[in-house]
Amino acid sequence: MKYCDIKDKSLAPKGKLRIEWADKQMPVLALIRERFEKEKPLKGIKMSCCLHVTTETANLMRTLKAGGADIVLCASNPLSTQDDVAASLVEDYGIPVFAIKGEDRDTYYSHLVSAIEHEPNITQDDGGDLVGLLHQNYSDTYLKNIIGGTEETTTGVIRLQSMEKEGALQFPVIAVNESATKHFFDNRYGTGQSTLDGLMRATNILICGKNFVVCGYGWCGKGLAMRAKGMGANVIVTEVDPVKAIEAAMDGFRVMKLEQAMPFADVIITVTGNLNVVDERHLVLAKDGVIIANSGHFNDEININALEKLSKSKRTVRDFVEEYTLDDGRKVYLLAEGRLLNLSAAEGHPAVVMDMSFANQALGAEYIVKNAGKMEKKVYVLPEEIDREIASIKLKSMGIEIDVLTEEQIKYLSSWKSGT
Ligand code: NAI
Repeated sequence: MKYCDIKDKSLAPKGKLRIEWADKQMPVLALIRERFEKEKPLKGIKMSCCLHVTTETANLMRTLKAGGADIVLCASNPLSTQDDVAASLVEDYGIPVFAIKGEDRDTYYSHLVSAIEHEPNITQDDGGDLVGLLHQNYSDTYLKNIIGGTEETTTGVIRLQSMEKEGALQFPVIAVNESATKHFFDNRYGTGQSTLDGLMRATNILICGKNFVVCGYGWCGKGLAMRAKGMGANVIVTEVDPVKAIEAAMDGFRVMKLEQAMPFADVIITVTGNLNVVDERHLVLAKDGVIIANSGHFNDEININALEKLSKSKRTVRDFVEEYTLDDGRKVYLLAEGRLLNLSAAEGHPAVVMDMSFANQALGAEYIVKNAGKMEKKVYVLPEEIDREIASIKLKSMGIEIDVLTEEQIKYLSSWKSGT
């Protein structure tokens, strides 16, 4: 087995500086790392991690290694790898990485296989590709070693929950995404800002004054709509859930069907976790020059096959910008091949947000070790105390103090709960 597969080891010095920069914004993870170094809660544990290879992930890897884990890292998306970070992890931190930005499908899967061949006791996944492949092709050989796994994102959690329902899930998995200190902040504020960052880096367009459609008003969509509005865009929300649609309307956004928005939309961004949200029936109505992108986990929210079919030609006009010319001459611009815009064309979430998400990942791994053998083959949420602990450390690092309940208030509230 190869030790690693990365683009270029000479990129390591740049990667190291960027990892250190991110570390300064990740005080919660730094505190956990300090404790892990002393207590070694992951000693003797092999971990295969399938995450976006970014500066923030590098600091999570350093934390797991400090805790005693023997880890390998592979990419959870072919376009999100930061090659300098991959190089630094290998060269400076002695952590094997299998990831190259822009890798083709076969290489992407061969990297997942390399991670599986590490024979992990714990998996860490972002989107469920590693766990999915393990269950499909490697169940006999490797599943027996696994005591549990963690999952980072909404789409991965949905995949795991359906595996659990079908009785197919073979080990317990902690849905890190479900921690309040993850999705309230990472999905909302992280995706909101970094998706706009990806849009601006890829296109350099002015956001204000644009008719800006956000498809999906979940955690990510709320963040994106809020930030686009803040920059002066005319934000329109599309939804399939009537409750979310009312929420968007009451938050001050125009809500309509995507077909109604198509003729005047300047920018359309999907964040739904669903399939063909922008489909052929929408593309035929597109305004000339519309920019379409996705920040949901998989690259199937925009029907790219339909776009290809409707187009007479296509060319790359800037990095991450593909210009499609439709039969009648209208142009449609697709960003980053429909893959996660914030991680493809920008650097993903700011480190300060990933600090909390990855604190959950690190404590999730520790929780699995502590509870090995006691957990069932189910999808779990981390206990509320861990959420509160992460939030308290984060507040402290921000210099914010909050009030604490008095004895009298604790008694008063518990009397309501117990009905006395
Ligand atoms: P969520 O479940 O909170 O929200 C998704 C929303 O999309 C729901 O309100 C749903 O009703 C709506 N929706 C579904 N189909 C739709 C359709 N055809 N048209 C319009 N709306 C539709 O999920 P969340 O947490 O917002 O995540 C969304 C996606 O983003 C997932 O794939 C998740 O894995 C991914 N994600 C991406 C991140 C990034 O860095 N780009 C960070 C976190 C999550």
